[in-house]
Amino acid sequence: MDLKNSTVLITGGTSGIGLELVKQLTEQGATIIVTGRNLDALNETKRVFPKVHTFQSDVSKLNDIEQLYKDITQQFPALNIIINNAGQMRLIDLQDSSLDLENINREIATNLSGTIQMVHQFLPHLLTQKSAAIVNVSSGIAFMSYSPAPIYSATKAGVRAYTQALRLQLEDTNVKVFEMIPPGVKTNLQNDWIKRPADSMMMTADKMVKVAIDGLLKDKKELKPFAIRVIQIATKLIPNVLLNFGHREFKEIKKLKIGK
Ligand SMILES: NC(=O)c1ccc[n+]([C@@H]2O[C@H](COP(=O)([O-])OP(=O)(O)OC[C@H]3O[C@@H](n4cnc5c(N)ncnc54)[C@H](OP(=O)(O)O)[C@@H]3O)[C@@H](O)[C@H]2O)c1
Repeated sequence: MDLKNSTVLITGGTSGIGLELVKQLTEQGATIIVTGRNLDALNETKRVFPKVHTFQSDVSKLNDIEQLYKDITQQFPALNIIINNAGQMRLIDLQDSSLDLENINREIATNLSGTIQMVHQFLPHLLTQKSAAIVNVSSGIAFMSYSPAPIYSATKAGVRAYTQALRLQLEDTNVKVFEMIPPGVKTNLQNDWIKRPADSMMMTADKMVKVAIDGLLKDKKELKPFAIRVIQIATKLIPNVLLNFGHREFKEIKKLKIGK
């Protein structure tokens, strides 16, 4: 995939992996458009990367996506790559009845429905381009449920399944479909957690995005570091060990919450 002459829309490009994509794709010479909900974060991204174009837009809101489509196709008709990166990850106790129905669905609305809605809205435009791509960000958790974050786990398995079907349906078109599969990466994603993962378990966003850009340039359909290959093999050989490892964390987190 040629990145230098591309116009790239990154959802959730104000933090973590998205912000690192902004940095490294700018270095590649691409034109970058970034979305997010928080205006201060968008302004800060624009301050650090003055050439970037920012739009306040929430991928879980249908009106926001429709307006974003109108604005971007008018102002940036050369848009040819969309990176569906916006995501949220919460620790959720499924027995917590204080969470209402909207609340329990929040990660689905952003991570899964947000991705599907963005693709559906922008696909007709991408199909008019000479060369185009969709990059959906899933997770190592797509291969094994992580019991402390059950809704997140469901969304990432869903993003992977959806992306595989999308790739097949678009195989005879000009739109290439990529899945970026990060393992644990040190970002702001787990900032609100009562127990955060040890830094030693986490990759840096810089390294993850280098792998992704290298894969995009070589047209590798799965953009994944070595750690994901290990997880894929382990989930086949010792699936219950991994599931139980995650569930031990849930039990520890639950104890911490009760002790609060
Ligand atoms: N970090 C990891 O360990 C890890 C591992 C595997 C996969 N991933 C995936 O990588 C992606 C990026 O995560 P990250 O770790 O970089 O997290 P992050 O540092 O928390 O960044 C998330 C970004 O998404 C934006 N965002 C959240 N909800 C949004 C919404 N409804 N509409 C538009 N933008 C929204 C945030 O900005 P606002 O809050 O201002 O909207 C922010 O820019 C996610 O899809 C995540 O699931 C991360």
